[in-house]
Amino acid sequence: MSQEENPKHSVIIEFLTKRGEGVACVEGRELIVPFALSGERVTIEERFKTRKIKWGKLLEIHESSPDRIPAVCEHFGTCGGCLLQHFSATLYKDYKKNLILEALRVQGLDTSLIQNPIIVGAGQRRRIDFMARKWDGEVKMGFHEAESKKPFNVQSCPLVHPDIPPLFEPLRQVVTPFLEQERLIHFFITRAQNGLDVLLAGFKEPLNTDQEQSLIDLAKAHGIIRLAYKVKKRETVLHFMETPTVRFGNHDVEVTAFGFLQATEASDKIFADFLEKHLGDSEPLNIIDLFCGRGTLSLALTKRGHRVKGIECDGQALKALQKVPEPLLEIEERNLFESPLLAEEFDSADVVVMNPPRAGADIQTQELAKSSCKKLIYISCNPESFARDCHHLLENGFQLREIIPVDQFMWTPHIEVMAYLER
Ligand SMILES: C[S@@+](CC[C@H](N)C(=O)[O-])C[C@H]1O[C@@H](n2cnc3c(N)ncnc32)[C@H](O)[C@@H]1O
Repeated sequence: MSQEENPKHSVIIEFLTKRGEGVACVEGRELIVPFALSGERVTIEERFKTRKIKWGKLLEIHESSPDRIPAVCEHFGTCGGCLLQHFSATLYKDYKKNLILEALRVQGLDTSLIQNPIIVGAGQRRRIDFMARKWDGEVKMGFHEAESKKPFNVQSCPLVHPDIPPLFEPLRQVVTPFLEQERLIHFFITRAQNGLDVLLAGFKEPLNTDQEQSLIDLAKAHGIIRLAYKVKKRETVLHFMETPTVRFGNHDVEVTAFGFLQATEASDKIFADFLEKHLGDSEPLNIIDLFCGRGTLSLALTKRGHRVKGIECDGQALKALQKVPEPLLEIEERNLFESPLLAEEFDSADVVVMNPPRAGADIQTQELAKSSCKKLIYISCNPESFARDCHHLLENGFQLREIIPVDQFMWTPHIEVMAYLER
């Protein structure tokens, strides 16, 4: 069936999904309608998202919700990056808070402690992953369109730090000739504290001298401190002024395109302040930082005089951390899913800090629950795994003392949470 023949419906949006999309009911079946709000009367065109899920493209709004506000970005609705720019401030705050609330409720946990979210705000994301590809004979550089694989040209992006968008058009012009030979290229741009780090990836063949020179000229003209490109797994650095770093505690730690980094500099501070709030006044403590990455939390803690053992499986991240002259920090490379810290290994720790990936820390939490650990600071990027792990901890003597959502992925359905637990 061609798109012109897809049925159109006039519907009322009944509720929002967890991703903040509207849901309408048509002939007893639910249709997901991105960019629509509860209570709105709209016309939609039926599309399939997958074979099971039906998706309705929002064509017209006849009665709009009092919670609708104009979007900030010219690309909103086309771009697949943001879903929630049309939410009023109140709806947005409630929606983000509800993500945590629902997850705790599913686990039967008390939700009364959940505070209003800290909203980091726009213009702060320090990292972007863009693609460039030829589509319908034209070079496109940016993100996918919403609900599609089709790329489109991003001219501006209010989400990211203002240092990044001025690179968009010059990069597009430089890589346009490359796409004669390559199907798809990715750009990873990171705003380090000392400048921009750019990695181009996805090349099948090495670039020729002229192409390399065009990238070097671009790097020099735009104050990029490191520019590299990757042919399969081999990385060639074309331009290097200094090592890109981010400051954690008292130290500058090297960052790379693929290593984990919190989405904004502001979140590093929010997490560090939370640690300070709960541990700041204490005598020097022995702390275990599980899933420590490049040391965002570990080095915030050593700055306050605490002795930290950081554990992480990413060898590259630990290499960067090892270069830091911090006598209070000890690190261990370990896969905490395959080989979790055992209960007795927590004996020497006064406090455990943990910031796992989206999957959470299921097996690790079981050991932690059996241990003598009395204080835990849990920072999570996934309300469901957070709630599951908390459920287990609460069944084993811990109590939740504070829960603060942190919105570092503005206008997306993501939310982080910081929690303090004690026995
Ligand atoms: C959400 S990040 C947190 C990193 C760090 N705490 C920070 O704030 O920058 C999760 C970290 O867990 C690490 N990780 C993922 N799976 C792991 C595993 N099985 N064992 C140990 N570390 C793992 C990742 O490499 C990543 O550095």
